Amino acid sequence: MRTLALEHRPKLIVAGATAYARVIDPAPFREIADEVGALLMFDSAHVAGLIAGGSHPDPVPYADVVSFTTHKTLRGPRGGAIVCREEFAKKIDSAVFPGQQGGPLEHVIAAKAVAFKEASQPSFSTYTHQIVANSKAFGGALANEGFRMVSGGTDNHMVLLDLRDFDGELTGKVAQEVLDRAGITTNRNTIPDDPRSAFITSGLRVGTAAETTAGMKEKEFERIASLMARALRQRDDETALTAVRHEVAALCADFNPYANFTK
Ligand SMILES: Cc1ncc(COP(=O)(O)O)c(C=O)c1O
Repeated sequence: MRTLALEHRPKLIVAGATAYARVIDPAPFREIADEVGALLMFDSAHVAGLIAGGSHPDPVPYADVVSFTTHKTLRGPRGGAIVCREEFAKKIDSAVFPGQQGGPLEHVIAAKAVAFKEASQPSFSTYTHQIVANSKAFGGALANEGFRMVSGGTDNHMVLLDLRDFDGELTGKVAQEVLDRAGITTNRNTIPDDPRSAFITSGLRVGTAAETTAGMKEKEFERIASLMARALRQRDDETALTAVRHEVAALCADFNPYANFTK
């Protein structure tokens, strides 16, 4: 990145990722931005909750602008937020409104406030540390089933799998569809140097945030890894997929994220 920055002398360096399972350390980005006279924006979309919970380094002391979605690990409503140094506030505010945003969605703004309150509680830090612990257990169990973890492991809420070691014929598209039928929601994803298109892909992206909210721990994620492998190995056998689906439903029935709410 430094080599590229020295070559191109950008005005703005953007850090962030959509399918990267490792920590992005903001400090070297700041050093390189200063070296080439660029501003630094840190898009913390995926890991905002992990940052709030203290599981990942905070980019705020380093970046000029930090953006984040509120609906990923921050566990709030669909939407986003931008924080920045005061000198950029007026420009960013007016670019958002009236530049891009229409009428404000008051209920979503209220839900964001609730999410921010939740994220500032000690219990949220416990939650994010469990997300990461679950991810590591999940990734390890998936590796034992024969999947290759892109980047060799995970430090956050997601695991990006290369499916080719598990089964050279299996694409991300087929894996996602088979797992949907087995009651397990995943996301096909390209992997570095993927020979297949972004619609087909050779990778699968899985995450632990939602089921961690439901109360699942390492043991349950190891179980999910084995259910995934079983479903994918027996993907042409409808009876086998139905059996996995029933086991998934039974597992989920024991972990209710809304236990305090009655129907
Ligand atoms: C790095 C990054 N930034 C921003 C976004 C924007 O999220 P959305 O389009 O859901 O608002 C995403 C979504 O995946 C992302 O991965």
